[in-house]
This record gives sequence, C-alpha cells and structure tokens, in this order.
Amino acid sequence: MTSASEHLKIKIDERKEAGIYRSLKPGNSLVDFCSNDYLGFARSAVLKEDVKAEFNSHPLSLNGSTGSRLLSGNSQYAEDLEQEIAAFHEFEAGLLFNSGYDANLGLLSSLAQRGDTIILDELIHASAIDGARLSNANRYSFKHNSMESLEAKLKASKGNCYVVVESIYSMDGDSALIKDIVDITERYGAHLIVDEAHAVGLFKKGLTNQLGLQNRVFATVVTFGKALGSHGAIVLGSKVLKQYLINFARPFIYSTAPSFHHLASIKMAYRLLNNAEEEIINLKNNIAYFKKHVDFNSDYPLLQSDSAIQCIILKNNDTARLIANTLQSAGLDVRPILSPTVAAGTERIRICLHSFNTLNELALLCNTVNNFINAR
Ligand SMILES: Cc1ncc(COP(=O)(O)O)c(C=O)c1O
Repeated sequence: MTSASEHLKIKIDERKEAGIYRSLKPGNSLVDFCSNDYLGFARSAVLKEDVKAEFNSHPLSLNGSTGSRLLSGNSQYAEDLEQEIAAFHEFEAGLLFNSGYDANLGLLSSLAQRGDTIILDELIHASAIDGARLSNANRYSFKHNSMESLEAKLKASKGNCYVVVESIYSMDGDSALIKDIVDITERYGAHLIVDEAHAVGLFKKGLTNQLGLQNRVFATVVTFGKALGSHGAIVLGSKVLKQYLINFARPFIYSTAPSFHHLASIKMAYRLLNNAEEEIINLKNNIAYFKKHVDFNSDYPLLQSDSAIQCIILKNNDTARLIANTLQSAGLDVRPILSPTVAAGTERIRICLHSFNTLNELALLCNTVNNFINAR
C-alpha cells in the first residue's frame, strides 16, 4: 500500500472507530419520512408525462448541452426559463447553476472581495460556508437567529458586507427571523442573501416572497432538488448581479451547462408548482397532524418548527441511532442525524413530512416515536 493509501485508510478507520463512518446504501421500500420530495414531485406520474411531452415537442433538442453556457451550452430555452423563474419569484433576473451547492459556492466565492465581510448564521448550509471560505473576505458567524449577535458582527464588518441565512434551516426546520434580519441588514447598509432551499414548495415562492420582502433582498438561492423534485438551482437578483456572476462565478463558467431534458424537467416542475395548492394543503395538514400527535418532553424535545422538517433531540448518537432503528423496523424511513454533523448533545432524528404521507403512515410514525419516548 502506498503512503497516500495508508493515510486514507487511517482516516477511514478513525471515522469507523468514532462511529461516524459514512457509506452509500441502496434505496429501500420503507415509507418515506426522510427525503426532500416535500410535494411528491420527484415521484409524480403527471410531471413525468409533462416532461416527456415537452421533450418530444422539441425533436431537434440535443441529448447533452455540449459545453458550458459561455461556449456551446447556451440556448434561448435556458435564457427564457431563467426569466420565467425569476418572474415567478418576483426578481429581475436569474442564473441557473448545476446544483444548490454550486450556486452558493459561485455566489459567495465571487461576490465578496478582500476587505469585504461575509456574515453567516452559525447553522448555515455547508455550501455557503465553503463559498465564503473560497472568497478572500473576512468571515464571521452569528448565533443562530440572534439579532444581538448579528448586530455585533455587523458593527465589526468592513467593506461591502453580505449576510447569509436560510429561510428554513435544513437541519432544524425552523425559520429565519427574515423581517428582523432584513431591517437590521438595511440599517447597517449590508446585503442580504437568503437560501430558500427548504422553503420553496411549502411557501410556494419562498418564505421571503410570502412575507412580501423579496424586493429588500440582495440575492436568493432556490434549489430544484427538493420540493421541485428535480435538481439544479438558480440565483435570483438584479440584472447586474446576473451579469457579474456570468463573468466571475467559477462553478458557472467552468462547468457543462444542463441538458435540454434537465431544463425541461425544471420548467415543467415550475408549471406544476404554480398549480400545487392541493399538495401544499396536504403537506400543511400533515405537519399539523404530526405536531399534534407526537409526544415530546424536556428529555426529548421537539425543535420548534412549522416546516416539513421536524426534529426530536435525543442528545447522543446511540439513542438517536436506536430510535431510528426502531422506526425503520416499523417500516418507516427516518434517519438519525449524528454529531459531528450536528453539535454534540443535539443528536436527533430528522423527520421530513410530505404531501403524500397518508394518515395511517403518520399515525404509525407518531405511535412508534411516542412508545419509544414513553418507555424510557
Ligand atoms: C439549505 C441548502 N442549501 C443548499 C443545498 C445544496 O443544494 P443541492 O442539493 O442542490 O446541491 C442544500 C442541500 O442539502 C441545502 O439544504
């Protein structure tokens, strides 16, 4: 074995010993309480047919895009789609990226320059952290949703300042205090960036839009791999921001553009979202049912959340694994979220609710959780 391979093996063994080794598992037939398919679009037969029809109505479209957008990979279809999505979310312009990870990486790494400041909520997604790291800007994090902590960092900021939050936090399911954050960032002349990955869908156009605050946000990231049931992402903002990203966002510049089929999937998913009232009501009802029927207590608290992401804190990796195994044995796909993915002492199960979960499935979920918690 080479010394490089030995090094890899040592690092892997360290993970195994710490009980945090990651491995890929094939899909299963358990009831889905863990995916991001909040409105059931990924499994929608209607959407599949719509995409097929759109694909077939463009017989000259290519299988692949053949290059980056700046070379051979652009199309009028892609540009029209960007404009259509921007209009849906009530922004001036939008630029497609191949994933939400790429969108945050491209946006944050290119925007802030040396001497500027990026301030991130401490629970922000890894893609935003990585984007900020790749910039040459000063970086601070503020205590989750704490306006005092945010204000302290704003006071210390230099140059152009960008504040980055998620509207619905991916690991906790709670909402950012968007109105307060908009007010405070404006007061300090900072620019707000909102990642709406987990809010679009439940809030049709995103939480910021629901609150009528989209005009006061510098940029928004919307991902297509969650409620929209596809993959990819868009950065929404001004026309100038779009022009800037086309020139400076490296994940956009140096990557092959999405294929026609991919663009058609996104376009048809938006059409479905525009008429998804029933799915959204079903999802809201399922969230309300879960919150009403699940037991929790101070030993096993339920995190405050009105979103599709509901978390019960088990406080250590072993108990989180045990309850997840119990739920899986009952036929329910619920995964534990362990440290170090979340802070030690906040290990949890993260339950994702969907529009398509039935009352029987929800009852089984709540009963199994309640029996586990009440037996301890
Ligand atoms: C808040 C948030 N932003 C960005 C991403 C990355 O999006 P994608 O999966 O499209 O790369 C995720 C994905 O988990 C996310 O939860």
